Amino acid sequence: GIVHQIIKIKENHIINKNTGDFFNMSKREKWSSEFGFLMAAAGSAIGLGNLWKFPYLTGISGGAVFIIMYLILMFTLGAPLLLTEMSIGRHTKSNSIDACKKISPKWGIAGGFGVAGAFVILSYYMVIGGWVLKYMTSYLFGTIENPQQYFSDFTSSTAEPIIWLVVFTGICALIVNAGVSNGIEKISKIFLPLLFLFIIIIAVKSLSLPNSIEGVKFFLIPDFSQKNWISIFINAMGQVFFSLSLGMGTLITYGSYLDDDVNLVKNSLYIPIFDAVIAITAGFAVLPAVFVFNIPPESGAGMIFQVLPSVFNEIKFGRIFAVIFFLLVFFAAVTSAISLFEVITAYLSENRHFKRLTAVIMIFIATSFTGILSSMSFGKLSNIKILGMTFFEFFSFLSDKILMPLGGLLICILAGYIWDRVVFKNELSSGGKYKVKIFKSLRFILRYTAPLMIIIILISSWIMDLSD
Ligand code: TRP
Repeated sequence: GIVHQIIKIKENHIINKNTGDFFNMSKREKWSSEFGFLMAAAGSAIGLGNLWKFPYLTGISGGAVFIIMYLILMFTLGAPLLLTEMSIGRHTKSNSIDACKKISPKWGIAGGFGVAGAFVILSYYMVIGGWVLKYMTSYLFGTIENPQQYFSDFTSSTAEPIIWLVVFTGICALIVNAGVSNGIEKISKIFLPLLFLFIIIIAVKSLSLPNSIEGVKFFLIPDFSQKNWISIFINAMGQVFFSLSLGMGTLITYGSYLDDDVNLVKNSLYIPIFDAVIAITAGFAVLPAVFVFNIPPESGAGMIFQVLPSVFNEIKFGRIFAVIFFLLVFFAAVTSAISLFEVITAYLSENRHFKRLTAVIMIFIATSFTGILSSMSFGKLSNIKILGMTFFEFFSFLSDKILMPLGGLLICILAGYIWDRVVFKNELSSGGKYKVKIFKSLRFILRYTAPLMIIIILISSWIMDLSD
């Protein structure tokens, strides 16, 4: 009962103070500073989701209407879930599966969605990561003459995209193998600040182009004529989940390396704020440039590869801006991919007792293989369809539309209904060190609002996607 749990917390606290152990786990890694954690967690959140998905999603989803819904959901749904995942991770000091088991023995599956989902996301994320590397080096050593042609030639070929995706995955593997504080944290502390700087350079340049106001209008002016509120809402919610890396055990894993006295509530606000600021800045950086050159903003996924290069070709010092831009996307993609990598690494090394290096090599080989399938689905394997989808589309459907919402749903239920509320609150407040005024609302969200909203997106997005 509760008394027992409290005693357990006290015991653990003593064990923790004396030996650094918790639940008898020795030698577990830790972030070296709260700032390092914040950079790593924001690095996980800020990724391709912000830089290419957000700008065009806003464009096609009614501009400012979408942004407002996104911001509301970010803080009413995203931040609470983020906080919950971090608390579960820090309380149990475990990888996502063992963490959920420690909250309640039969609930390992909630974390299992995370490990499976992380693997599936990596399987397509790294393909784009490879493209980014290819574009960055192309601009470093030359230029891209005919962007449309270049894009379709490159993505439909076999060897080159595979080489780049393996290079991208290899870079992630090296970082993750170096460790949590020595690899992930160190790299995030360098990449994230640079990313902030670069995106400002690109946004300023983009806004200074003649006619950029059209893009800003498209981005910001609410389009009330397009009244598809439900699909705008679903898009906004999917975006919040994906962009904050929710439902996949990322924040459980990253939270598990946190010190007991870090203020979780504060961090659960900083991360969404950083994430939203970068997403909105990306809108200002990408859309004006696209509009100036009269290119339809609906081009979606291809936008940064097919559309932006035409812009870089036209402007002064375009090559330099192109390198800065793709470097920025690369930084964002790497800091996100390593968070997915770490979810699986933590599970394989703690639960399955593999050495970190062995775990990293296994993940590297397995994701390279599924990555190759995704990559080739733009070329030689484009005819192979699962449920009418290519490998690339199928992996993104599976992770974004199934594993991520289901994982999120189970976490809500686990924390909202099963986890002892006294223990939960005690974790949030670092044993009473911080005042936690939002606990009642947080639990209400976890028990009612969030599950309801997740079930709505699950069902409606399945209907929409499978009827396409
Ligand atoms: N949030 C990242 C982005 O915006 C992607 C990502 C990293 C992610 N880890 C995740 C998405 C975990 C879902 C779950 O690009």
